Amino acid sequence: MARIFLIGATGGVGHRLAPMLIHAGHDVSGLHRKAEQAEDLRAAGVTPVQGDLMDMDAKALGYAVAGHDAIVFSAGAAGSGPERTAEIDGHGPVKMIEAARAAGIRRLYLVSAMPEAGRGTEVKHGFELYMRTKKEADAALSISGLDWVILRPGTLLDEDGDGMVALSRAVTYGTVKRGNVAQTLAALIDRPEIRQEILELTDGNAPLADAVDALVRR
Ligand SMILES: NC(=O)c1ccc[n+]([C@@H]2O[C@H](COP(=O)([O-])OP(=O)(O)OC[C@H]3O[C@@H](n4cnc5c(N)ncnc54)[C@H](OP(=O)(O)O)[C@@H]3O)[C@@H](O)[C@H]2O)c1
Repeated sequence: MARIFLIGATGGVGHRLAPMLIHAGHDVSGLHRKAEQAEDLRAAGVTPVQGDLMDMDAKALGYAVAGHDAIVFSAGAAGSGPERTAEIDGHGPVKMIEAARAAGIRRLYLVSAMPEAGRGTEVKHGFELYMRTKKEADAALSISGLDWVILRPGTLLDEDGDGMVALSRAVTYGTVKRGNVAQTLAALIDRPEIRQEILELTDGNAPLADAVDALVRR
């Protein structure tokens, strides 16, 4: 059993992930922005922690995450503008790293994005900025010295998971059900020996348990 702090608990991935973690026996706290979100989180078994990444500095986030064993970052600005992309997708993970260090937490899981998304198309400036910001956050986490996992899903579909994936250190670009992203995070959290890894994920043909087993370095 681990005490897990979920940043992005109310999102498409996060709201699917929380019950999976609870079902696996973990204690879950979830960051939320609006007071009215607390009731739904509590009903799902999540301890709500109110805070907005646009306002919280690393110190405030450090207080929020204190007492947890692992942090999952699945928040995102969702195309709401460059300032919010920079602060949430960019500075958010950096603040998570500083908060984790202050709170003595080693295990961090970051939902990033697959760099090949948009390849071969005329991507808009905002999308290019988003991809660059995600990459910079990955780079910061990868040199943190902590026990991180960066998960790079392809384009997300708003569907529950079926547990059939392509999950590896390099995967051809494609789409992935948000439910499969959540299932993958839950499976990775139950395998703490998988750490300091950048993993790519799409829907695929492999049962998730087999794909996770194959990641363990022998
Ligand atoms: N869309 C794609 O195709 C795609 C592809 C690859 C990777 N990703 C990444 O996958 C991750 C999960 O995506 P998703 O679809 O689950 O995201 P989502 O449904 O848009 O949810 C985003 C989450 O972040 C929270 N959030 C937004 N701004 C915040 C703030 N200022 N302070 C605190 N929390 C804030 C949201 O809270 P509220 O409920 O209050 O809004 C929500 O819980 C994101 O990091 C995203 O960038 C997305």
